[in-house]
This record gives sequence, C-alpha cells and structure tokens, in this order.
Amino acid sequence: MIKLHMTILGIETTCDETSFALVENGTKIIAEVTMSQIAKHAQYGGVVPELGAREHIKNIEQLGTNFFKAIEGYPIDAVAVAAKVGLPPAVQVGESYAAALAKAKNVPLIPINHVVAHVWGVWVDNSFTEKPNFPFLGLIVSGGHTQLVTFSSPTQFDIIGETLDDAIGEAFDKVASILGLPYPGGPEIERISETGDSHAVPFTIPLEHDDTMNFSFAGLKTAVRTYVEKELPNQHETYKKYFIADVAASFQRVAFTHIAQKVEKAIKETGATQLVVGGGVASSQRLTDILFSYFEEKGIKCELFVPNRKYCTDNASVIAGYASNLATE
Ligand code: KG4
Ligand code: ZN
Repeated sequence: MIKLHMTILGIETTCDETSFALVENGTKIIAEVTMSQIAKHAQYGGVVPELGAREHIKNIEQLGTNFFKAIEGYPIDAVAVAAKVGLPPAVQVGESYAAALAKAKNVPLIPINHVVAHVWGVWVDNSFTEKPNFPFLGLIVSGGHTQLVTFSSPTQFDIIGETLDDAIGEAFDKVASILGLPYPGGPEIERISETGDSHAVPFTIPLEHDDTMNFSFAGLKTAVRTYVEKELPNQHETYKKYFIADVAASFQRVAFTHIAQKVEKAIKETGATQLVVGGGVASSQRLTDILFSYFEEKGIKCELFVPNRKYCTDNASVIAGYASNLATE
C-alpha cells in the first residue's frame, strides 16, 4: 500500500555528483545539497569511474555531516538511493552509505532507477504548481540515455523509443571533444552556439524517414568529425572560433530537431497531451526552444514540462521524490 505523507532521504552518486536531499510527500524539498566533481574529471576530458568513486567517498562524508545538521529534527521515514544505471564504482559508494544509514535509522531502503527518476524533476520543482497528469509522455535525455517513455502511473511505464547507439548527452560530449571544447560538452556547445550560425553546415537529420520512435546520434557525430577533420585545417587562425561555433550550432540544431521529430511521432502514436522532459540535456534552453517552436509550427497541442536546470542533471531530490511512489508501509 502506498503511504502518503512520507519524508524520504535521497542519495545520488551515479556519476559525477554527490547529492543528498530530504523530500516530504514526494514534492516538498526540505533540504538538498549537491557537490559536483566535474572540475576533477574535466582534466581527463570525461568521467573516470574510479576517480569518481574516490571523490564520492571523500565528499559523501563531508556533505553528509553538513546535510544532517540542516535536517536536524525532521523525521526520516525511508532512505532512497540511486541504485540502478550509472558507473558501478560510483553507484556502490551511495548504495553502501544508504544501506548503513537505513540500518542505523531502522527504516526501509528503497533502491531507485535513476533514469526513470529523471522525469520527476517537475514534481520537486516548486515553480510547477500544477503537476502533469497521468498518462503522459516522458522524454529522458541524459549522458547515458535517450528514451521516450509512456507513463500510465509512476510505476507503470513503457519505453516506446530509445537510442540505437550513442545517447544524446554522450554525443554532445564527444562532439565537444572533437571541437576542442572541455567536458562536459553539452553546456559548452550550448554556450558557443549562441555566436554560431545553426544553418552553416547542413548535417543530415538522423532517421528522418524511419517509422520508429528510436534515436541515433553516432552517424551525426561521425559526420561532424569528418567535416571538422576536412575543413578545420583550411580555416585561418583568426576565424577558427567562428568555424567551431558554426559547427556546434549546426550539430545542436540537427540533434534537437531529430529529437523533436521523434517526439512528434510519439505524440501522434500515443495521443499524449503532456510531455515531461528530464535528464542533463533537458537543462539546455535551446532544446526547450526547439521543441516549443516545433510544436507551434506543426500545430501540435502538447503541454511541455521542463524543470529548472538543477533538477535536470543528477540530483538526490528526484531520487527521494520518485521514491515516495514506491514506498510501502
Ligand atoms: O543526467 P545527467 O546529469 O547525467 C547522466 O545521467 O548521464 O546528464 C549529463 C549529460 C552530459 O552528457 C552533459 O553534456 C549533458 O547532460 N548536458 C547538456 C547540457 N547540460 C548538460 N547537453 C546539452 N546541452 C546542455 N545545456
Ligand atoms: Zn542522470
């Protein structure tokens, strides 16, 4: 039986963020703290799992001490931990910590699939006074996943489309590296694209004439690599930055148009009237803009829910928020 009015402590360590949150009733954040290790990994051009695990071990103790001071006096009915899908050495740090904590507090331990929890950003973001209604269509766009998911309830969902190769965030990170931009590549590409012409390079939109709701980004990434290897050496030193901005903006436009086209197919197929977006790539304002203008242009009547950036990337609030749907007496 689902117990309402629960206060759940969430822990997230699946990738490069160590995060704690205490969430009441699945939506009200009482406290949250997140520590990023991005700067450590950036020197290596991407996440190094063993380095990540070491950093989590170090950060979780320090962060935990501050966090427990902030939530002193509040009840803890359960401990939820991002347990599935992530970098195994990093995930294990959170899992062991959460298991020990649940045991010490004598409360249930709830393992959470962090990919599904990404959709819960809108529930913990209090700027959304109206939450989506079931059933709705979910779009998960992260560093490891690209999925279209129909949710008929918090726990009943079907993946109706997913990537056949690279995930969208992975493609952004790899294209950024091809362009000589630092990790994580998504925000860098978004930033540099502001000064670029998104129609400068006519990359082909992937799977445009395919009837499925699946995605593919590997071919687009290779097209960017081939183009850059051929054209970059011909650019005058002074103009290289403009060339890079044009390629980044063109890649971003094509990648997000591909997403918009597949979302359109999914909406037609399912009759969804609400689209809920989550995952690190959802922090791109450009993705929201492209989806929004695509819906307008095509006359698609679908309400778009995109949470604040801090609830798009990995965070413990969505873990605790989603867990309230799974908590049992
Ligand atoms: O959900 P997340 O924090 O971690 C995973 O579960 O993977 O997503 C991280 C991914 C990275 O690949 C990062 O480059 C991408 O999200 N990302 C973005 C943006 N901000 C983060 N991609 C495109 N545009 C952005 N503004
Ligand atoms: Zn994630």
